Amino acid sequence: MRRPNDVARNEGRPLPASPTTPSPVRIQMIEDSQPPATPQLAELYSDFEASMMVPLWTQIADLMPASPASRARAHLWRWSSLLRLAERAGDLVPVGRGGERRAMALANPGLGGRPFATPTLWAAVQYLMPGEVAPEHRHTQHAFRFVIEGEGVWTLVNGDPVAMRRGDFLPQAGWNWHSHHNATTTPMAWLDGLDIPFVHATESGFFEFGPEDVDTTATPARSRSERLWGHPGLVPVSAAVSVPSTPLFVYRWERTDAALDDQLRLEDEQHPGVLEKGHAAVRFSNPSTGGDVLPTIRAEFHRLRPDATTRTRREVGSSVWQVFQGRGEIRVGDEPWTVERGDLFVVP
Ligand SMILES: [Fe+2]
Repeated sequence: MRRPNDVARNEGRPLPASPTTPSPVRIQMIEDSQPPATPQLAELYSDFEASMMVPLWTQIADLMPASPASRARAHLWRWSSLLRLAERAGDLVPVGRGGERRAMALANPGLGGRPFATPTLWAAVQYLMPGEVAPEHRHTQHAFRFVIEGEGVWTLVNGDPVAMRRGDFLPQAGWNWHSHHNATTTPMAWLDGLDIPFVHATESGFFEFGPEDVDTTATPARSRSERLWGHPGLVPVSAAVSVPSTPLFVYRWERTDAALDDQLRLEDEQHPGVLEKGHAAVRFSNPSTGGDVLPTIRAEFHRLRPDATTRTRREVGSSVWQVFQGRGEIRVGDEPWTVERGDLFVVP
């Protein structure tokens, strides 16, 4: 709304952003490629600050770079040390309403101590003790679980119990109710991946609590989701509409293993299939669309033959990798690492 009296009262100077709160805007005068630093320019910048305005010419290199420069850094976490810390948390920290999950996130050293593995991805070790229940909730953040070892936990997704076993990949779209229960006498740890930093940056997070107890402690070997959607190339006609996130709540290790194995066998027979020499790779896909499993997260499984070397790749999307089995040499930027089972590393 136009308020001519404001100008008159301030003799042509803009009103401060708030009479009591100092402006957080700070504009630096930079000689290079900027107007000459004169007292008049300093006064103009000072008035921009008071008016909560920022001129593009002082910000364009940061806001519109010629190419991305991530604040995140390449970093490696050893599974053995993550697991030891998770076990200690198991002894000290209860699981229940409020904290919701005994999940310990990877904090990228370039991201100021936030629990963010990359600017868009969360990755955490979750640990559930025998008999424990992680209570039901839902949120707009998309999620997946990946099981590096152990079994005995069932995740309930909208009341459908899904068994978690080594090598299984369990995507779960935002806003589905979910909880976990450990039906065994041993603890279980797994990797949680979510788009928490992305949702945080876009301020699109919603969260609701469900009941503290799980609806059922049933432990079926196969979930209803697998029975409906887990048949390759077969989509149920009753539900044959495209949905943006996968309706299949688990991708079993046996199938992933067979798909990777078949690619390498095809290579042995001089047929196409592998991504490159000695390098098999599959992408988890949404059976209703053929696209990625989740709108904000792509998930893949790669297998390298002994002594195989991949091409160097450069990508804009950030990623978190976990070693499922074996040992290898990894180079991310200038960082060379020897990695083994369970180790996690970030490619910014
Ligand atoms: Fe959750």
